[in-house]
Amino acid sequence: MDARELVRSVKSVAAVRTVGSARGLRSVRSAWRRWRADSVELPPPGAGRARVPGEAVGAEPQPGGGVVRFARSSLRVRVAAGGAVFCGWDGAAPEPSYALAGACPEVDERAVLEPDTDGGWRVVSERVLVVVSRLGAVEVRTPGGVMLRRDLPPRWWEPVPAALRGPACPAGPLSDGSPADAPGRGPGAAGSRWVQRSEVTADARFFGLGGRAAGPRLRTGSYRLWNTDPGGSFEPGDDPLYVTMPVQLVVADAGTHLMFHDNSWDGRVTLWEGEEGAGSGHDRPGRCELRMDGGPVRYWVMAGTPARVLHAWAALTGAPALPPAWALGHHHARWGFGSEREVRRVVTGYRERGLPLSALHLDIDHYRGHRVFTVDRERFPDLPGLAAELREQGVRLVSIVDPAVKAEPGLAEYDSGVAAGAFVRDGRGREVRGEVWPGESVFPDFTDPKVRAWWGGLYAERLAQGFSGVWHDMNEPVSFAAFGDPTLPRSARHVLEGRGGDHREAHNVYGLAMARAGYEGLCELRTRERPFLFSRSGWAGMQRYGGTWSGDVATGWPGLRASLALVLGLGLCGVPYSGPDIGGFTGSPSPELYLRWFQLGSYLPLFRTHAAIGAGRREPWEFGAQTLDHATAALRERVRLLPYFMTLAHLARRTGAPYVRPVWWRSPEDRALRDCEDAFLLGDSLLVAPVLEQGADRRAVRLPRGRWYDTATGLAHEGPGQVLLDAPLSRIPVLARAGSVVPVAGADGRVELEVWAPAPGRTGGGVLITDAGDGWEQPEVVRFTTRSRGGVVTVEQEGAEEVAYPVRVRGSAAGSAAR
Ligand code: GLC
Repeated sequence: MDARELVRSVKSVAAVRTVGSARGLRSVRSAWRRWRADSVELPPPGAGRARVPGEAVGAEPQPGGGVVRFARSSLRVRVAAGGAVFCGWDGAAPEPSYALAGACPEVDERAVLEPDTDGGWRVVSERVLVVVSRLGAVEVRTPGGVMLRRDLPPRWWEPVPAALRGPACPAGPLSDGSPADAPGRGPGAAGSRWVQRSEVTADARFFGLGGRAAGPRLRTGSYRLWNTDPGGSFEPGDDPLYVTMPVQLVVADAGTHLMFHDNSWDGRVTLWEGEEGAGSGHDRPGRCELRMDGGPVRYWVMAGTPARVLHAWAALTGAPALPPAWALGHHHARWGFGSEREVRRVVTGYRERGLPLSALHLDIDHYRGHRVFTVDRERFPDLPGLAAELREQGVRLVSIVDPAVKAEPGLAEYDSGVAAGAFVRDGRGREVRGEVWPGESVFPDFTDPKVRAWWGGLYAERLAQGFSGVWHDMNEPVSFAAFGDPTLPRSARHVLEGRGGDHREAHNVYGLAMARAGYEGLCELRTRERPFLFSRSGWAGMQRYGGTWSGDVATGWPGLRASLALVLGLGLCGVPYSGPDIGGFTGSPSPELYLRWFQLGSYLPLFRTHAAIGAGRREPWEFGAQTLDHATAALRERVRLLPYFMTLAHLARRTGAPYVRPVWWRSPEDRALRDCEDAFLLGDSLLVAPVLEQGADRRAVRLPRGRWYDTATGLAHEGPGQVLLDAPLSRIPVLARAGSVVPVAGADGRVELEVWAPAPGRTGGGVLITDAGDGWEQPEVVRFTTRSRGGVVTVEQEGAEEVAYPVRVRGSAAGSAAR
């Protein structure tokens, strides 16, 4: 156990108040069992001889690229329609994959493999040029030949002989068996560790890797790929967290690219940001090293503008699920509402103060003894009645759902799971038991299609209780451990869609597969409504089923900053719907911290207040009259912006572009913007600059090029450059792009267009996507263009004689030039 793990164990034990308790003893036993199972069933790490591909000995063209054969390995390069490039070593094929949305994309027949100079090969395609050197380095270049990244040949450590590996290690050829794949071992030849080093340009910046509290820009450092509950709460320095993904988004002068290693095993990414030699010609390139404990060496690269790259990513891994309209409003949660009476008190508190509330979330305390899919009838005697009553007031109920099922014969969920063969087993066929909220528990194997179907069916109970959505938690998965990794043994067996394997491969996709089970179950049970689901853990492709949230972010100013980093980073990994626990999960925020968090959260897709059972309150009226006033203003503004949020949700589904984008989204060549981490674009039209520092009432805001209006004053500022704006406690700076059309809700709730005057002689535009309800109906898409000529601003609606919505033009020309 390294120092970090030790700290985490201590924190998690403290967090669940286990010391000296029955739970404490069980978590010692559970950690011990995990350690013993792994030492007996898994091969010792470290053994094995290193292997590199060796020299190229030939190549065979195939549709979309071809296979280059080396002395000791082979590399397949295949360009997919849409421009994504697949590279697979040792016969690795794109499938099977938990990340891909469906069938592997068609190949681009126009991409051809041809000999390059020096005994290497190249694949020429429309979007990128891939150059494979004689020794197996792969360069991805722009069509014009500018280098985006160079991946050096991988190095494998051959696993110990199969006889010593035991039943936990099937040879898992992901190869499609084509003769051109030989020679070399099957990828996923379990336990075969490998490392690959890469280079990017000196000016490049790294983003992504899932939800990282230290982001969004990932500085020189080491980032682990293993979904983890940090235990209790986390701060920006804590890594890894709940959602890790081998997805890097790299932004450089030469272009933007996304690199995805389709491998769910434990690993570590080490990044070194590059340095430019200030004209001396001695640039130090940016570097990356990926070390994986096993699994295939296969990856996808997409290049282009940020928008194109995210579009290609969504095409590959699936369009983000569209939340129902109500899920874009304000949610309030708390671990420990404790009773129907308290729930009514809180909802009444919102109503009496005229505060809009869309959803209220019930945490594990509404379960009977923390057992999933049950209700504590003493404290919640009539949940369906409560749900109906709240629904009439426009408030939906959302239920937490944890994967662990109490190992208790006689409990319906346990018995039916046993009958369905649903729970994860060890190498000897016994249930793997762990310790979670309900006590000794078992874990559904969501990598088994029939278990997903069984689990999905259990959501009927939640729907019958009147819940409108689900909040998946503890699905890294967590098993409390007094020491070591708080999860299942690595040797635990999983079905993995019939291929068979162990937790080393299944761990990181556990939350993703649970999300799939829940999503598909809800679709089947309630065919006419889109599911609302968000999940603490997940992996590449989780957006197909819903969103995520920050998890247990520590209360404090650093936690506020981490909240934004997480949302931005996840968006760049294709997960557009997320948000933090406003106010932080632990402790009691000061009124100022609460308010600044609330103001930030009101511009994020998931706008939810939540806190731990022992933490202070999070209702807006608990922090004094002034805070209530300002929080009310933020809530009202959110309601006004709902048509814009709905439009952004549809755009995310159609294009893969997150609602919340880094400020460099449309100007990745602007280096100062690449380093700007304290503001974001909300869609194309708005730039939001939250206050992340205590005591601040002004803040510097870095603007992308073009004209921007301060929405509070209407004053224009010209970018690129930096402006200093007022940020009194009552609001955070929000700027609107000149020429944009922001659909908003008018006083009567109907859609109006807020048009921000284009700069003289310029044009602009916008889109409105109106949702037909919470079902699957096709929305209506309306496009607008704006013009400013001779001081007159005009708006046109595509395909219509007149604009069908009331228009309000805003923005005056007088203002300042940004510095
Ligand atoms: C986990 C969740 C948190 C929840 C708690 C109790 O810590 O991250 O949101 O309140 O469990 O269920």
